[in-house]
Amino acid sequence: MDHFALTNGVLHAENVPLPAIAEAVGTPVYVYSRATLERHAQVFSQAVAGLGKDGTPLIAFAVKSNPNLAVLKVLQRQGFGADVVSGGELRRALAAGMAPGKIVFSGVGKTRAELELGLSEGIGQFNIESLEEGRELAEVAHSLGITAQAALRINPDVDAGTHDKISTGKADNKFGVPLVRAGEAFAELAGLPGLNLRGVALHIGSQLLDLTPLETAFAKIGALVGELRAAGHVITHVDLGGGLGVPYQPHEEPPSPADYGAMVARVTEGWDVHLTFEPGRVIAGNAGVLLTRVVRVKRGVRDPFVIVDAAMNDLARPALYGAYHGFAAVEPTGADMTANVVGPICETGDTFAMGRECDALSAGDLAVFRTAGAYGATMASSYNSRGFVAEVLVDDEKFAVVADRIDAGAIMDAERVPEWLA
Ligand code: LLP
Repeated sequence: MDHFALTNGVLHAENVPLPAIAEAVGTPVYVYSRATLERHAQVFSQAVAGLGKDGTPLIAFAVKSNPNLAVLKVLQRQGFGADVVSGGELRRALAAGMAPGKIVFSGVGKTRAELELGLSEGIGQFNIESLEEGRELAEVAHSLGITAQAALRINPDVDAGTHDKISTGKADNKFGVPLVRAGEAFAELAGLPGLNLRGVALHIGSQLLDLTPLETAFAKIGALVGELRAAGHVITHVDLGGGLGVPYQPHEEPPSPADYGAMVARVTEGWDVHLTFEPGRVIAGNAGVLLTRVVRVKRGVRDPFVIVDAAMNDLARPALYGAYHGFAAVEPTGADMTANVVGPICETGDTFAMGRECDALSAGDLAVFRTAGAYGATMASSYNSRGFVAEVLVDDEKFAVVADRIDAGAIMDAERVPEWLA
């Protein structure tokens, strides 16, 4: 459920009509709904409440899905921590007031500087992704006189059944340590000074529309926990990652957070560990739209091209993954059309939809791409010397610009021609 709906024929975000935002901020612009973010946070929290050792699992929002400071602040106020994958994300989580102890640091390529940053900020857990990283973390922590809290990310070799580019738990993906080598890695790392290797982590992929692969992977992790304990290791923490999908298309019916929670309860029964979850998309996806204006409608050979002022640099998912985003008029007339929806960028990949049945639109009309709150603005670029898109947060009847538009001129200001070329 989200808070983007028609009132008197005009699409609103909560109680703000979208034309008011277009008027004030211009287009394209991402619009987020605070009430939707909060609702999703609460539904997820309720779904996992009571799970794990003390019944208070850590929900670490996957910052990569929407790193906007205001969005992080909304979630921080809901008690969320953060799953970060870079020093930049770590700084954002801290700036949003997230407790360092509620931050987990994932990622295959953490640099020494990032390990040091995490250690000096006292983050809750490093999810280390290789033996090599574990050795380095132990060494850095030991030299700083600190003990790093860590879990070993396991690659369970499970096909998540999602798009190849967002699948992370197959043997040939770069993530984690293969299940069969987990014992070896623990044997070496658990004894190192500077490291408290207290658990395991996994994340098999994103936009999962079926719980089966997650359940299969979690069961493997449960068995591993037993084996590690039998080998004398103390396992107190398991991080089950993120991955729950959202409905991008009307026919998609992803499992609900409640179904997910019930599955986790069943599989983790008796594990006796503190649990962490890293949801991203399921929290932020439906909490945002990309508001755009039709530049013009061009006659095509078959269907017309609706050319909008948003492009693949603002919303990359269709170009990168062939992803579907709902597309609708802000002030629908009731008439329909079949259209090719494209941006202004000079490559054919800048296509949001081909042959899409949608509301009839003309030049100057406003429209939205739905379900753009996750992996939207955060993946923007300045390709074709377009600026970085602005972001707005709505709260009931008010709204605020929570990320300025960075125009192409400001980006150019950061460049220079060397003297010897002038
Ligand atoms: N934890 C880890 C370690 C991750 O790598 C990810 C996402 C998550 C949690 C959050 O997963 P979620 O709950 O959002 O599915 N750009 C792609 C998605 C990439 C996801 C990468 N990892 C897209 O637009 O679909």
